[in-house]
This record gives sequence, C-alpha cells and structure tokens, in this order.
Amino acid sequence: MIGIAVLGAGRIGRIHAANAAANRRCRLVAVADTVAAAAESLAGALGAEPATDPKAVIARTDVDALVIGTPTDTHVDLLLEAARRGKAVLCEKPVDLDIRKVDAAIAETSRLRARAMVAFNRRFDPSAAALRRAIDQGEIGEVRQVIITSRDPEPPPLSYVASSGGIFRDMTIHDFDMARWLLGEEPCEVFATAEALVDRAIGTAGDFDTLMIVMRTKSGRQCHINNCRQAIYGYDQRIEVFGARGMLLNDNLRPSTLRRYNGTETEGREPLLNFFLERYAEAYRLELDAFLAAVERGGPMPLSLEDGRRALRLADAALESAGSGRAVAV
Ligand SMILES: NC(=O)c1ccc[n+]([C@@H]2O[C@H](COP(=O)([O-])OP(=O)(O)OC[C@H]3O[C@@H](n4cnc5c(N)ncnc54)[C@H](O)[C@@H]3O)[C@@H](O)[C@H]2O)c1
Repeated sequence: MIGIAVLGAGRIGRIHAANAAANRRCRLVAVADTVAAAAESLAGALGAEPATDPKAVIARTDVDALVIGTPTDTHVDLLLEAARRGKAVLCEKPVDLDIRKVDAAIAETSRLRARAMVAFNRRFDPSAAALRRAIDQGEIGEVRQVIITSRDPEPPPLSYVASSGGIFRDMTIHDFDMARWLLGEEPCEVFATAEALVDRAIGTAGDFDTLMIVMRTKSGRQCHINNCRQAIYGYDQRIEVFGARGMLLNDNLRPSTLRRYNGTETEGREPLLNFFLERYAEAYRLELDAFLAAVERGGPMPLSLEDGRRALRLADAALESAGSGRAVAV
C-alpha cells in the first residue's frame, strides 16, 4: 500500500487529504502545514500524523508519495525535494507563476527520472471525461470549435488576488488545459481582452475579473474561453465542442434534477452546485485515484509537468495580449 502525505491543510489540502484517507490504494501517513493548528485538526480528523515541517515529512521512509497543496510559490521547492528523494508527486496547479522556474523544475525532475503529475482536476470530471471519450470515438467528426465558459460565484478576497499571480495564471489556467485537451492540437495564437468590471479594487491591484480569449491552432481550429470572477446565479461551468458531424455540450450540475412549474415560471430548477469544491468533488477523488494507480503500476503519469508548463505558457501569452491589444503567437 502506498504511504501518502498531504502538504498544506488549506482549502485544497483538506479535499486531497480526505480523499487519500478514503482511498484503498494508499494510507494517509501525515499532513503537514506550517500552521500547527491546521495540520493538527486535519490530521487528527483523518487518523494521520500532523507535522509543521513539510521537508521532514517528505524524508519519512513510510511516505512514498506526496500531494503538494501549499501556496503556489512553495510548489517547486517541495516538488524538487520530493524528486531528489525518489517520491512521486501530485502537484497543485499552477506549478509556479514563473515559466523559467517551471522549465528548470522540468529539467531537474527529468534528470532525476522523478514521477510528477500536475493537478488539473477537471480532466477527471466524469462529464468532461465523457465528452473527451465522445471526441476520441469520432462522434462529432473533426473538432472545429471549443467554447469554454467558466465563471465563479464570487471573487476571492483581495489578499488572495494579490498573491494569486492574476486571473489568467490562477483561474483561466484550468480552461487553457481543457482547451488543449479538447482541441487535440496545441493553440499557436492567443488573443485576450480583460477588464475589472466586478470590483475596481481588483483592477487597482493590477488584475482583471472579466475576460474573453480567442485562440487558434495551426490547422485553424478555434477556441473561445470566457471567465468572470462573479456570476450572480452561481458557479457556471459549461463546455461546447462543435465538430464536422455534430456538437457535444456539457451543462452545469445541480444538487437534483427537480424542475418546478407554476404561475410565474416553467423549468424552474435548483441553484447550481455552489463552487469548485462541490462541483468537482468527484473529479478530485478520481484525480487522486488516477495518480495512485499510476504510482502503483509505474510508467507515465496521466498528466505531466509539461502539461502544467504549456497551460502556463498560454496564460502568459493571454496576459501579454490583454496588455498590448494584439494577438500573441505561442
Ligand atoms: N485544482 C484546484 O481546483 C485548486 C483549487 C484551489 C487551490 N488550488 C491550488 O492549491 C494551492 C493551495 O491553494 P489553497 O486555496 O488550498 O490555499 P490555502 O491558503 O487555503 O491553503 C494553503 C495552506 O498551506 C499552508 N502552507 C503555507 N506554506 C506552507 C509550507 N511551506 N509547507 C506546508 N504548508 C504550508 C498554509 O498554512 C495553508 O494552510 C494553490 O497553488 C492553488 O492554486 C487548486
């Protein structure tokens, strides 16, 4: 059985730790957080050992694999420490905000033949996986256009905005990964327009909260991504893939299929699942399981650090385009 430890006991660390504790392929050995109370409460609830030094946890002989769920600026340091000790890593997105650091981490991990996976959980969402399977099975023929809508219910606190690396690298990075995965070709040109329409303070902090992106691939396939940090009706996650022989559409999920008909409305439905922790709960579970299955069997990981680098490269290009008003070649 794989001994696993989770680094970071915040929003995402809590999800991964609970999934690890429930997964039969592994034993959750430890939870590390520099804030002792955070490590103690999460580890205590899941029957694992709490720790405040993540590197001491990486060094433990009963830890074979790590989930890195710490703030982005700590990922590469912890990833390389784990790689040097021969431990497998599931690293949260983005790998880093600086593509040069990601390049260096990829070079070092490949030199060490380390096994690392970037955590783009949406690929493991059952609806997204079904959509990709339908493309692979030729149901809509050649893909022509991919349209991705991703809107959050509420903007994050300004303190988060300041350290997030900006909306393109923090939020849209998931959509860049989905775009690459569904287009079946790498985007070669990116045009973006972005504003702070929800909260001017986000603009003052140098970031955006509302954006649209158009990308094209070398053969001319097109992709449109739209993001907003606030949607009054909840967490809006939709994907449309249009091809030569049809269209595939992933709609939002709701807690139930109930529909209401009365004197003022028809087709009245429950609100959307509130945010990413609820909407992608199953995706996070399946993501960890896919990582553990790859650790068990050896061979390639379902996603590589290179996937993380390519999504970051698109984010950097979109940021540049939003500033210059021109399309950017990738
Ligand atoms: N895949 C997703 O859907 C998703 C969702 C949310 C966050 N994330 C990513 O996960 C990472 C963490 O985000 P979050 O929202 O959970 O943040 P968070 O602030 O809620 O949690 C981070 C935790 O890490 C701890 N920490 C800080 N430095 C540490 C260190 N060196 N060693 C151990 N613990 C340390 C903090 O005390 C905190 O408890 C970010 O990179 C973020 O981009 C991914």
